[in-house]
Amino acid sequence: MLAEIPLFARLSGRHLNKIARVATTKRYAVGSPLVRAGGPANAFYVIFDGRARVDTPDGGIELGAGDFFGEMALIDGEPRSATVVAVTELYVMVLSRTKFLKVLEAEPKIALAIMATLSRRLRAAQQAEAL
Ligand code: CMP
Repeated sequence: MLAEIPLFARLSGRHLNKIARVATTKRYAVGSPLVRAGGPANAFYVIFDGRARVDTPDGGIELGAGDFFGEMALIDGEPRSATVVAVTELYVMVLSRTKFLKVLEAEPKIALAIMATLSRRLRAAQQAEAL
């Protein structure tokens, strides 16, 4: 399953196995909040199946299979920047804070892919703000 996630696409089988060993899979019912704005941050999430909504000031952003969330507060040590809710039944891969930070240190390709997505999201937020 991990090999089909674009974030992990460029990793070798050995590296994928390493991540699979430390990750868990969770299911959330429709409407479940996975992450609460202002709350503490313990985990990073990658969506295997289903859709989630990030509540942003400009109305919200939908995320689907292959998308990830929950990286910001783990990287900068601040509280969660937004609430994220399951829009459909949702299956996610969960990495604890410690494991996520270890993966970032060990896998520069993943760190770069996350930075690329962060840059895209910042550009989209800037455009939304300019409207
Ligand atoms: P974090 O702050 O840990 O928890 C909320 C998450 O929502 C955040 O990490 C990002 O993964 C995601 N998020 C916050 N703002 C946006 C945005 N403007 N676009 C896409 N995702 C976002």
